[in-house]
Amino acid sequence: MADNRRRAAFLGVGRYAPEKVLTNSDFEKMVDTTDEWIIERTGVRERRIASDKQAASDLAIPAALKALETAAVSPEELDLIILGTVTPDFFFPSTACIVQDKIGAKNAGALDTSVGCSAFIYDCNIASQFIENGRYERVLVIGVETLSKIMDFTDRNTCVLFGDGAGAAVLGPAKRDGGILATHMKADGSLGYLLEMPGGGSRQPPSHESLERRMHYIKMAGREVFKHAVRSMVEAGRYVLEEAGYEGEDVDLLIPHQANWRIMSSVADKLKIPHGKVFVNLDKYGNTSAASIPIALSEALEQGRIKAGDLVLNVAFGAGFTWAANLVRWE
Ligand SMILES: CC(C)(COP(=O)(O)OP(=O)(O)OC[C@H]1O[C@@H](n2cnc3c(N)ncnc32)[C@H](O)[C@@H]1OP(=O)(O)O)[C@@H](O)C(=O)NCCC(=O)NCCS
Repeated sequence: MADNRRRAAFLGVGRYAPEKVLTNSDFEKMVDTTDEWIIERTGVRERRIASDKQAASDLAIPAALKALETAAVSPEELDLIILGTVTPDFFFPSTACIVQDKIGAKNAGALDTSVGCSAFIYDCNIASQFIENGRYERVLVIGVETLSKIMDFTDRNTCVLFGDGAGAAVLGPAKRDGGILATHMKADGSLGYLLEMPGGGSRQPPSHESLERRMHYIKMAGREVFKHAVRSMVEAGRYVLEEAGYEGEDVDLLIPHQANWRIMSSVADKLKIPHGKVFVNLDKYGNTSAASIPIALSEALEQGRIKAGDLVLNVAFGAGFTWAANLVRWE
């Protein structure tokens, strides 16, 4: 697949998860659920929860510093920071700007994106364009969530699914034939109402009424989301494989958004990727939305599940609805 195109590669990856662990048994004390139900229907066993004092940037910064250290890149070398989250520190300034200041990335632009669980892949795909066209040399991409702050701990349909965490990657020009080979990004805003936080924005500013109606929490039609997640992730995976001239069986590791084991296994089956080649850490973290792929990527590297030359397929689906994929020849 060698060609002369300048490509973007992952130079370093890092992650951070808050210390506090909430197990399924802890949820048995809060809502009408059981450890067995949660494991069987989702695959989640425990998740990390940010402390009252931790906002998104407090999780993002250690993940970003780790990615920079692994990449041997200094903050001053960064040209751009793209941070994906639906749980920013504030509406504004952006969480990316808070990170930019605190890590001392004096020469970087910084922006947040709101792409739900697809954010990290979207943001890497956007970053890759700046690198491919030669505009930038070093881009920091961060996926971070403090979903526990918007989880309704009285709603068993949603609260057992999610968790907090952060992951980050430094992207730069590929040195060899590897890097991001193909990208895909899609959206269908007509279905956004199936997964949303209805209160707090300009449509429904915070008020006594919005608080009473519990509008500042995640609302989700789980069964509908499930169906679309499988279909869209399969479409995204097939698209990038085809564009780069590969089949599912060529993939060395599939890193799907860690939402639900049943979704992940179904996507793998449809892409003809054996379950042994699917990276899973959902049992430890739950669905950490924008942080899910970079946390998984970081753990997969640490565990030696990715070697130089491997073909890695990242696929995600999220609020919006949005879905995305990229296919990476690891360097
Ligand atoms: C949420 C999800 C796990 C529910 O699993 P499901 O098999 O679809 O379950 P259903 O929604 O059909 O509900 C089945 C029953 O379980 C119940 N149930 C829901 N959550 C429960 C829980 N935590 N404990 C026990 N029972 C629960 C429901 O109330 C329902 O009961 P009913 O039949 O009496 O109404 C699943 O739909 C899912 O994972 N959806 C995608 C979610 C997702 O990934 N979102 C993020 C996308 S980025």
